[in-house]
This record gives sequence, C-alpha cells and structure tokens, in this order.
Amino acid sequence: MPVDKQEFRGVMGHFATGVTVITTHDGNGQRFGLTANAVSSVSLEPPLVLCCVDKQSESHAAFGTSKVFTVNILTNDQEVLSRKFAKSGADKFEGVGYRIGQTGTPILNDVLAHLECEIRHEFDAGDHTIFVGEPIDVAMDQETEPLLYFRGGYRNLRA
Ligand SMILES: Cc1cc2nc3c(=O)[nH]c(=O)nc-3n(C[C@H](O)[C@H](O)[C@H](O)COP(=O)(O)O)c2cc1C
Repeated sequence: MPVDKQEFRGVMGHFATGVTVITTHDGNGQRFGLTANAVSSVSLEPPLVLCCVDKQSESHAAFGTSKVFTVNILTNDQEVLSRKFAKSGADKFEGVGYRIGQTGTPILNDVLAHLECEIRHEFDAGDHTIFVGEPIDVAMDQETEPLLYFRGGYRNLRA
C-alpha cells in the first residue's frame, strides 16, 4: 500500500537540509527563482549537482528552455528571501539584490555559496523533474552560517 502523502512529507521533514534559491531564465530575458531544499551533490568526476523541481511550479518550463540554473545557498540571515521565493506569482526579484552570471541566471547577493550549472540530464520523477547540472562557475561567497530547514520550520545551527 502506498505511504500516505502527509506522513511521507512529515517523515522526510526529519531529514535536516540547507535551503537554496534556484534561479534560472527562459532564454527570453525573463528570470525565475524558487526556494528548494531537494538539492544534492551527485558526482565528483565530473562534478554534478541535482535539484528537483515541481512540474506545477511557474519556474519549471524555464529550466527546459535555457538548460541552466544557479543554486544559491542561503545564509541564516536570508529567511525572508526563502519565504519570498517560496510563493508563486509576484515578481520575486523586486527589491532583491543580484547580478547576472555567465549562464544568464541571477546570482543573489550575500548568499553563502553559489553554483552556476549547465543542465546535462533531466529525469521524469513523479510530480517533479530532476535536473542534473554540471557546475561551470562556483564560489563560496561568505564565511557565515547556513539557513536550515527541519520538521517544516526554519532553523539555524545554534537553535
Ligand atoms: C524550505 C522549502 C523547500 C522547498 N523545496 C522545494 C523543492 O526542492 N522543489 C520544488 O519544486 N519546490 C520546493 N519548494 C516549494 C517552492 O519554493 C514553491 O512551490 C514556489 O512557489 C515555486 O515557485 P514558482 O511557482 O514561482 O516556480 C520548497 C519550499 C520551501 C519553503
């Protein structure tokens, strides 16, 4: 029997993660971004990183057209940014500082670290698509602490 959806979500919520904003564009000058914690390192040789994106999200199609994304790893000061990018609709980038990287994707200001990636593989996975990207430019931007997510709430290392 399949596991209940809410129970599955609750159990997976026990797996503490960092929090990222994944940014991309649609190849036509429109930028997109969504908060995501379904992000993982995949391979070292070559370096590969994955993110899982809901097919219903407004950003989803843009990944397929531009074939690039940036993983912006948030600091513990960036909960507001995480909440902003977790809501569909409004222009999420209004009032947010960023620069455009070599892939054309927004790199948010003051993040902990970022990886600009070119998509090498896409896998259909239930209601999400797994995008696997090869980082072409990366940086550890700050020597500060991460924003964490655990049991449905934001945490930091000392709380
Ligand atoms: C902590 C946190 C983690 C999330 N992780 C993911 C994720 O890994 N993949 C995903 O598709 N949505 C994830 N979401 C939900 C999206 O951020 C949310 O659906 C967003 O509104 C999508 O934006 P869009 O429709 O503008 O693309 C997460 C939300 C939160 C608060």
